[in-house]
Amino acid sequence: MDKNIPIDQNMIDYIFSHSESLHKVQKKILKFNDNLGKAKRLQISILQANFLQFLIKANKFKSCLEVGTFTGYSSLSMALSLPKNGKVYAIDKDINTNKIALNFFKEAKVNNKIFIETNNGINALKKLTKSKKKFDLILIDADKESYIKYFNYSVQLISKRGIILIDNTLWKGEVLNQNANDKLTLKIKKFNEYIKKKRINKYILPLGDGFTICWK
Ligand SMILES: C[S@@+](CC[C@H](N)C(=O)[O-])C[C@H]1O[C@@H](n2cnc3c(N)ncnc32)[C@H](O)[C@@H]1O
Repeated sequence: MDKNIPIDQNMIDYIFSHSESLHKVQKKILKFNDNLGKAKRLQISILQANFLQFLIKANKFKSCLEVGTFTGYSSLSMALSLPKNGKVYAIDKDINTNKIALNFFKEAKVNNKIFIETNNGINALKKLTKSKKKFDLILIDADKESYIKYFNYSVQLISKRGIILIDNTLWKGEVLNQNANDKLTLKIKKFNEYIKKKRINKYILPLGDGFTICWK
């Protein structure tokens, strides 16, 4: 058996009270998402966002790309960790959540660091690959059906020392369920098998709903 302590809510509260504090607009988005009911679980976890912030700061990254902005928690967290001239390219097909995210970005005064593209993820990534742009960190967190395609575009778009992260790769633990045969669980299982065979460095971290981290 591996040696991991159980992480319950008390432990999470302890971790938060002994870590970097959240920005007031991060707290505001969390509250906003809490009131969305079931849709709240679409947002990455606070620990995952902390981890993204650590990666950006520790590696002095300057550019991030996100597929799946939702109400902006992950993009805002990334923007807050970037230097003044840093940029986040945030893609989401939903014009309504993009508007909500933009208001939060303005409130946190990081709207100049975040470019929001309202578009289908595949179309947006295809366009970016043609432009030969490169990003230091790419977060894949949109429709699970397209994860393999998003990953392949990301491999072309990632900078030499960059990191690709993919959310939901443990899919509420369903990846272990041999009897689960719903479309999304099968897509995640297929994605994990695909990545396993790829010649790229990779770890699956048990953060949030499962966070895969890859680098060349
Ligand atoms: C899981 S949520 C992203 C959560 C966000 N990263 C956060 O932490 O708050 C997924 C988002 O992907 C978007 N999405 C779904 N399918 C998409 C597609 N084909 N192209 C672009 N965005 C898509 C949805 O509109 C939704 O906002």
